Amino acid sequence: MTAAAPEVLRLDRVGKRYPMGDTVVDALVDASFTLHEGEAVAILGPSGSGKSTLMHLLGFLDSPSSGEILFEGRPVAVITERQRAQIRAEKIGFVFQAFNLLPRLTVRANVALPLSYHGSPPADADARIARALALVDMTHRAHHRPGELSGGQRQRVAIARALVNEPRILLADEPTGNLDTKTAAAILDLFKELNRLGRTIVVVTHSPEIAGHFRRQLHVLDGRVKEGGAR
Ligand SMILES: Nc1ncnc2c1ncn2[C@@H]1O[C@H](COP(=O)(O)OP(=O)(O)O)[C@@H](O)[C@H]1O
Ligand SMILES: [Mg+2]
Repeated sequence: MTAAAPEVLRLDRVGKRYPMGDTVVDALVDASFTLHEGEAVAILGPSGSGKSTLMHLLGFLDSPSSGEILFEGRPVAVITERQRAQIRAEKIGFVFQAFNLLPRLTVRANVALPLSYHGSPPADADARIARALALVDMTHRAHHRPGELSGGQRQRVAIARALVNEPRILLADEPTGNLDTKTAAAILDLFKELNRLGRTIVVVTHSPEIAGHFRRQLHVLDGRVKEGGAR
């Protein structure tokens, strides 16, 4: 199925090297793989193996030191920073372990934030916010503030915020890392449902249990990415 689906992201021998005093850290080495539309991918690996580095590159939050990244077949390096920011805002949704919600804003206002990225919100803003909140089953908490919610509810709001621009791809870096097992399972079910609805999903986890629920696994070890088979 995935072989025929259009390509969303492709990495071609991508490396990321960080300077560390008078030495360097090769956080990612020679990573080559393709993500197709509709895929659900789990990224596995121990702490410090390069998972977040990889996610930042996939979401254009950082640039590679070597190799090439293509988004929808176009090399990311040759498009302007402004276009990159636009693709990031409109086509890529990012979910973090720490939720990163603004505590003074209501749930609704937090979810609305990405809509105003280019100045004024779109005409269908209300409908988009309502759809995103309904998808994560948080409509009934729209006027609450993050401090009044459980960890699982906060993460659902963060997922709604990542979805409000109806991105092509959803990237989640250890989204269940701060949640208890039961809540983590519920968030995982939500990702599976979003994938079933057609969203391309990449989730970082160090739980083989969670990764086992995804059709494809990528293992990261010492900066090297290998195709999975964890099941
Ligand atoms: N900004 C940075 N500067 C220097 N080294 C970094 C930076 N970010 C990550 N690293 C190093 O790169 C390696 C991979 O880190 P990271 O991608 O965060 O791993 P993971 O998410 O799998 O825990 C680690 O050795 C880490 O210390
Ligand atoms: Mg990490």
